[in-house]
Amino acid sequence: MTYPEPFLERMRQLLGPEFADFERALYGPRVNSLRVNTLKLEPSALEPLLQTPLRPVPWCDAGFYVSYEARAGSHPLHAAGAYYVQEASAMAVGAGIAGILGRDGLKNLKVLDLCAAPGGKSTHLGQLMNNTGLLVSNEIVTPRAKILAENLERLGIRATVMNEDPGRLSRAWGAYFDVVLVDAPCSGEGMFRKNSEAALEWSLDLPATCARRQDDILEAASNLLKPGGLLMYSTCTFAPDENEGVVSEFLEQHPEFELFELSGFAPGRPEWAGQGSSAQLTRTARLWPHLLEGEGHFMAAFQKLEGEESETRLERGVSLDKPLQKLWTEFAQTYLLEEEAVTLFKGEIQALNPLTPSLERLKVIRAGVPLAELKTSRLEPQHGLSHLYPRDANLPALNLALDDPRVAVYLRGESLEVESSEAPEGWILVRVAGLALGWGKKVRGTVKNHLSKHLRS
Ligand SMILES: C[S@@+](CC[C@H](N)C(=O)[O-])C[C@H]1O[C@@H](n2cnc3c(N)ncnc32)[C@H](O)[C@@H]1O
Repeated sequence: MTYPEPFLERMRQLLGPEFADFERALYGPRVNSLRVNTLKLEPSALEPLLQTPLRPVPWCDAGFYVSYEARAGSHPLHAAGAYYVQEASAMAVGAGIAGILGRDGLKNLKVLDLCAAPGGKSTHLGQLMNNTGLLVSNEIVTPRAKILAENLERLGIRATVMNEDPGRLSRAWGAYFDVVLVDAPCSGEGMFRKNSEAALEWSLDLPATCARRQDDILEAASNLLKPGGLLMYSTCTFAPDENEGVVSEFLEQHPEFELFELSGFAPGRPEWAGQGSSAQLTRTARLWPHLLEGEGHFMAAFQKLEGEESETRLERGVSLDKPLQKLWTEFAQTYLLEEEAVTLFKGEIQALNPLTPSLERLKVIRAGVPLAELKTSRLEPQHGLSHLYPRDANLPALNLALDDPRVAVYLRGESLEVESSEAPEGWILVRVAGLALGWGKKVRGTVKNHLSKHLRS
C-alpha cells in the first residue's frame, strides 16, 4: 500500500512526534469485524454457529473481530441476516448514540439516517431500536439506495428507504425527528488502509470540497431535527477541514446547538480548526488506527437546545380495494405473527409505519418492508417478510443444518430435493440454524426456489 505524499506530509505536520506511531499503523495489519444482528441472535450465540473465534470489539456490545479466513461475508449465516460485516471503528457511531441516550434510549424514537448506504449504521440503529419507533434510511445515489434496502431487508430491519437529496427532505418534513445521523460522504482517508482506491482518488484539495458538501448536509439535518433532539455527525477521514473544521463552522452558525461529550476515544483537536475555535471541540471523538484496533473515524454529537417542532403531515398510504383486502386478510392469517398497517406500493403490499411522514412527491425506494406481491388474483409472500420472523418461529419450514449441502444449492437459486417428512407442502421458509434464507414452494419431493435472482450466489 502506498499513500499520497501530500497526505503523509500533512499528517506529519499535524501529529508531530505522534506521526511515527500513526505511520507504523498505516503499514500495519488490518482487522476484519462484524456486528451480530441482535434482532435475530444473542451476541454470544454466533461463535458456536460460525465455528471460528470471535473477539469482542471493546466499544460495541454486539461487535466482534473475526479473521478474514473465516470469509464471514459469504457464509450462509450472512445471507440469513445473522450479522453485518462492519468496520470496527464504524460501530462506534451507533454505540455512541446509544451511549448518550441510554441502553434502551433509542426505542420508540423517530430516527433519520441521511447518508445511509450501504447500511452499516442504519442496520445498527435499527437493531438498537429493536424495530420500534420509526427508522427512515436515505441515500442520494439510486443504485446505492437499492443496496441499502437489501441490507436492511436481510437483517429484518423495519425501515422506510428514501432516495433523496437531504435539502428536499428538510423542506418536505421539517423538524420531525428525535435523532438524525449524518455519516457524511468524505475524503475517506481513514479507510485508505482497507480501500486503496480511496487513496488513488484523493487530492490535497479534496477535504475542502468535501467540507462544503458536509456543511450543506448538516444544514438540512439541523432543520430535520426536533428541539431536544440528537444530531450525530461522523466521517471516516483524518482531515481536520472535514472534522473539527465543519463542526466549528456549524457551531458558529448554530448557537442553538451544543456538543455532547463523547468519551472513550481520543478527543477532537480544537487547534486544528484554527484560532478561536470553540473549546467544545474536545467533546468530539477521533478514532486513530495507532490507538485502537480499527480504521480512522471522527464523531461529533450535537444536541438541539431550542427551535420549533414542525407539524409534519403523515403518510396515509394507498388503501387496498375490496377484493385485495379480502386476499390480504387471508394472507395475513397464514403469514403474519402480528397485525400490520400496510400500503400498496409498486405492486407490493408493504408495511406502513403510522409515524411515516408524507412521502408525496419524494423519491421512495420502499415505504416499508415488502410483505406480499400481487400476482393477478393471488398474493405471494415477499423476501422481506421472511427476514422479519424471529429465529425458529412457528411457521411451515424446511430446516437445514449449517453443514447440509442443500444450503449452498438453495443460495445458488436451484430447486431442492426433500423427503416428504422434512417439510409440509406449499409455501415454506427455507431456514438454516433456524434463520430464514428465503421462501420456497414444496410440491411433492421438490422445493421450488423463490429466492430473488439478484440475491443468488
Ligand atoms: C460514508 S457513506 C455512508 C455509509 C453508511 N452510513 C454506512 O454506515 O454504511 C456516505 C454516503 O453519502 C452519500 N452521499 C453522497 N453525496 C451526498 C449528498 N450530497 N447528500 C447526502 N448523501 C450523499 C454517498 O453516496 C454515500 O453512500
